[in-house]
Parts: sequence; structure tokens; C-alpha cells
Amino acid sequence: MDEIKIAASILASDFARLGEQVAQAAAGGADYIHIDVMDGHFVPNITLGPVVVQSIRPHTSLPFDVHLMIDAPEHYVSEFVRAGADHLTVHVEACDHLHRVIEQIRGEGARPGVAINPHTPLVMLEEILPYVFEVNVMTVNPGFGGQKFIGTMLDKIERLRRMITDRGLDVDIEVDGGIERQSAPRCVRAGANVLIAGTSVFGTGGTIRENIARLRASALGDPRLPLKKQKAGARAPVAAAKQKTA
Ligand code: DX5
Ligand code: ZN
Repeated sequence: MDEIKIAASILASDFARLGEQVAQAAAGGADYIHIDVMDGHFVPNITLGPVVVQSIRPHTSLPFDVHLMIDAPEHYVSEFVRAGADHLTVHVEACDHLHRVIEQIRGEGARPGVAINPHTPLVMLEEILPYVFEVNVMTVNPGFGGQKFIGTMLDKIERLRRMITDRGLDVDIEVDGGIERQSAPRCVRAGANVLIAGTSVFGTGGTIRENIARLRASALGDPRLPLKKQKAGARAPVAAAKQKTA
């Protein structure tokens, strides 16, 4: 199995001690620091901008995986890269000229990625896949931490992994939202290799180090039974919907 990476999402951290929390995640075994940027337009929440990214940059040498949940991200690409973003992900739903934005990110010297909302079909990614390093498959509706994992996204992850493999590409699949010890192994089995986790890293009982270790161990666990159960549960509404239209 490919190496599984854990991106600690600071949305669930203590913002009053952001630098410290980022350093703790790095010392505790995180591979990336995931930074959620929200504008109150693309998503119904507002978080932080380049100034904050810049202020936490000295606290770790881990790559910053910056997730832009903002409209017209092209206006901010250069500012976020200058502030310290290593990976810059934009939403397929937020870009009229996605290829141009992806090329802009690469031109600024960061690794371009694309994020896709739960309802958006994978066909929207077909032409852009060769240009990105990662796809962030949203496993909740973006905007807030602490939401419940959407089980039907497992099938989407599987199909995306197949699309990538069939095209002979090397693209990371990130999963973002509701990633904890139950959902993580299912996502990995479906083909994800980067687990983005906020609440299960910063917002649960153990220390950050313990939480990261538990999440990593769970991702490599035997997920057979939970996957079966999840699939049966997830498919029931589809069958019901078909009956409705028949
Ligand atoms: C949600 C963000 C996520 C969020 C995940 O819109 O993109 O990165 O921090 O939080 P949890 O892990 O709490 O679901
Ligand atoms: Zn995110």
C-alpha cells in the first residue's frame, strides 16, 4: 500500500495558540498542515487570510496545504503563495477558468490541487486531472468542521482512483471532512492516500500526538466489515429514489 499522509486541519485547533498547535501537530507526526480559507460567499463561514498563514509559517517546516473555499480564487493565489502556501487547492465550483487558475498556481511556484464538493460529479475533473497534484474530495459540505462523514463519497473516491489509474496519472486523493477512526480506513480502501482531519486531531480527548497515531493506525486497519455495512447503508436511499421515479 502507498504511504498514507495525514494533514492536520487547523480549523479545529485553538486559534488563540495557533503557532503552538501547528508545532505540536508537526512534532506529533502530521505530514501536512491543512489550512481552510473561507470567504463567507463560496461557503457560509469566514476564517482566515494570508496574514495568518504568514504568521504561522515560522512555526513549522511542514508543507502548508491551503484549501481555498473562496470565490474567484485567482485574485489571491499570489498572496497565499507569498505567505507560505506549498499546496494550493481551489474548488472546481469556484473557477470559471479552472485550467488558467491551476497554471497560475504552478507559475507562482506552488503545487496546484482541485477540490470537489459532495454533489459535483467527477466528470468535472476529467480534463484537469493531468494538471493537478491532488484532488480534495470533500466528504462533507465545506464550511465547517465537526460534520458527519457522507458515506456515499466512498464510491466517488473509488471511481476517482480508477480514473486516475486508467489515465496513468499520479495524483493524490485527499479526503476532507468527518475523517476519524471509522471513516479513515474506508477512505483508504476506496483509494484515498491523504487524510485531512481537524476534529479527530485537535478536538478529541487525547493529545495531538496520540490522536494522529490512532488515526494513522486505524487507516491501516482491517476495514472489511465497516465498509460492507457502510455500503449497504449508503445504497438504500438510492434504491428508494429509483422506486419513487419508476
Ligand atoms: C471543512 C474543511 C475541513 C475541516 C474538516 O469545510 O474543509 O478541512 O477542517 O474538519 P473535521 O475534520 O472536523 O471534519
Ligand atoms: Zn479543508
